[in-house]
Amino acid sequence: MTMRHPLIAGNWKMHKTPQETEEFIVELLPKLAGVGEIEVLIIPPFTSLDRSGTLLQGKSLQLGAQDLHYEAEGAFTGGISARMLAACGCKYVLVGHSERRELFGDDDTIVARKLNAALDSDLMPILCIGETLSEHDLVEEKITRQLTQDLTGVGGKALAKITIAYEPIWAIGTGKTATPEVAQETISMIRRWIASHYDEAAAQGTRILYGGSVKPANAVSLLAQPDIDGALVGGAALVPGSFAQIVDAARL
Ligand code: 13P
Repeated sequence: MTMRHPLIAGNWKMHKTPQETEEFIVELLPKLAGVGEIEVLIIPPFTSLDRSGTLLQGKSLQLGAQDLHYEAEGAFTGGISARMLAACGCKYVLVGHSERRELFGDDDTIVARKLNAALDSDLMPILCIGETLSEHDLVEEKITRQLTQDLTGVGGKALAKITIAYEPIWAIGTGKTATPEVAQETISMIRRWIASHYDEAAAQGTRILYGGSVKPANAVSLLAQPDIDGALVGGAALVPGSFAQIVDAARL
């Protein structure tokens, strides 16, 4: 069976200036001593990436971006390409976060194009999927549709570079976390989907995170679930102390 390394990722959304980002990094780094196999990732806004990339060179803290444009370059005002992100030191990029889907119109066709653009530039995509509260009873349908459409054209070799994040939209920023059992059940369903559309080795090798109101207080029980390989953290990732506590929960 393939060993999956845990990943604790902090999605900062629209928070922090470059200066505030630097202060966060300086405070967090000493708290990460001896993280070992656990990968730790911050995902600040675009404007903080270049400076973060310089600060994090050779450090045990990875850098990611919150979104990308699917074209390599051109007349796309406001767009940021995969190559630009890689040049800032990004290793990862979020694709299809529910806020991009719901507030910025990223549909599954766009998400698939972004995913492929990231892979073409050797960025590792974190594909976010999840259902709204009204879709909760139909979670399997929603997730199956997202996986089928978003992974269009992605072969087994490319899949190995993708992390999936299951983020139930009703749990994001609401303080309502999926219970560890519900999160485990949905994530194991995602793994079964991978097994049936790729193979069992791909299913066992794919890293799948949970996101939605992850806090120091609930991180241990979520991360203890056999199919949950890490967390995508919003609010609690904005403070070095609470983010470091979530990283510590993955060490247990
Ligand atoms: P919260 O942890 O603030 O609920 O945000 C989750 C999220 O959307 C991470 O991408």
